Amino acid sequence: MKRALTGIKPTGNVHVGNWLGMIDPALALADEYEAFYFIADYHAMTTVRDPAKLRKFTLETTATWLALGLNTDRAALFRQSDVPEVCELAWILSCQIPTGVLERGHAVKSAKDGGLDVNVGTWYYPVLMSADILLYDSDIVPVGRDQKQHVEVARDLAVKMNHHFGEGTLAVPTVSIKDSVATIPGLDGKKMSKSYGNEIPLWLPPKKLRKLLMKIVTDSTPVEEPKNPDGDTVFELYKLLASAEDTAALRGRYLSGGFGHGHFKQDLFEALDALLAGPREEYQRWVDEPDSVKQVLQRGSERAREVAAATVDRVRSRTGLT
Ligand code: TYM
Repeated sequence: MKRALTGIKPTGNVHVGNWLGMIDPALALADEYEAFYFIADYHAMTTVRDPAKLRKFTLETTATWLALGLNTDRAALFRQSDVPEVCELAWILSCQIPTGVLERGHAVKSAKDGGLDVNVGTWYYPVLMSADILLYDSDIVPVGRDQKQHVEVARDLAVKMNHHFGEGTLAVPTVSIKDSVATIPGLDGKKMSKSYGNEIPLWLPPKKLRKLLMKIVTDSTPVEEPKNPDGDTVFELYKLLASAEDTAALRGRYLSGGFGHGHFKQDLFEALDALLAGPREEYQRWVDEPDSVKQVLQRGSERAREVAAATVDRVRSRTGLT
């Protein structure tokens, strides 16, 4: 069976961008692929320096996958740091990558843009991410558009390793980005991101969620005038959540005039809340039972380590480390 792999950093609230851009497509792939989905806690360390927070975010991010319906009887859901083999593979891969590739890395650029220090972990980020992908012989990697460059680095490294050490040393992965959700906008219309502070957290209680959605930036067309739905953040989000029929109806109300942005935001709230109400309860149930979450991660890591150990053995023998 072919494998799908992806990761998410436990650095804060999981948001609507993570859900629509990656989690939802990854859940769909988990039906036809053998899924290896993990919580990238080593990666989170480039920014999170509080152990209690790292644990809390790891629990919450795992609970999110479970609440949204990942079937862990079939999929391995695990914590990246439970498979330390990834660090060994990362070292081996780092010996194949020119420093210039890392200088141009997306994580380095966004750290610089955000005024953060570029620590070696941030710089090394694409190497560790490549190791994540290559360790599990992944065929397909579902991600949002912002991770495309990183998956390409992994591909290049697999090709290079196969060139030096023989075909079949590492499987060459393919990126999977669903166009319609590749870059989900945040409250201000820019890409939704924890580091821009424009995110819509998935698990807000309904009242808070509604209040936050009312803050979405819109233009100032008066209520009575027609409005352009295309490119409007509220509409762009709504159409990803609602049926084609409801989307067409909302489009009609934008174009007819007589409705304010507050009305449209209320529609968005209702659509989002209807989808999240059930999972929200599931989420709370998992968060309240950290031991059950730990058991899921434990089981996932056992499966992940089996595959990881076989890959590392193969790489060690191909490269002369045995
Ligand atoms: P992270 O934690 O930043 O984001 C998790 C996933 O959510 C996607 N995403 C978005 N998609 C669409 N629109 C948005 N506004 C949006 N914001 C976030 C991201 O593209 C990502 O797919 N480096 C990864 C974690 C990682 C990983 C891996 C992923 C570590 N190792 C190996 C795949 C394979 C990251 O920081 O994701």
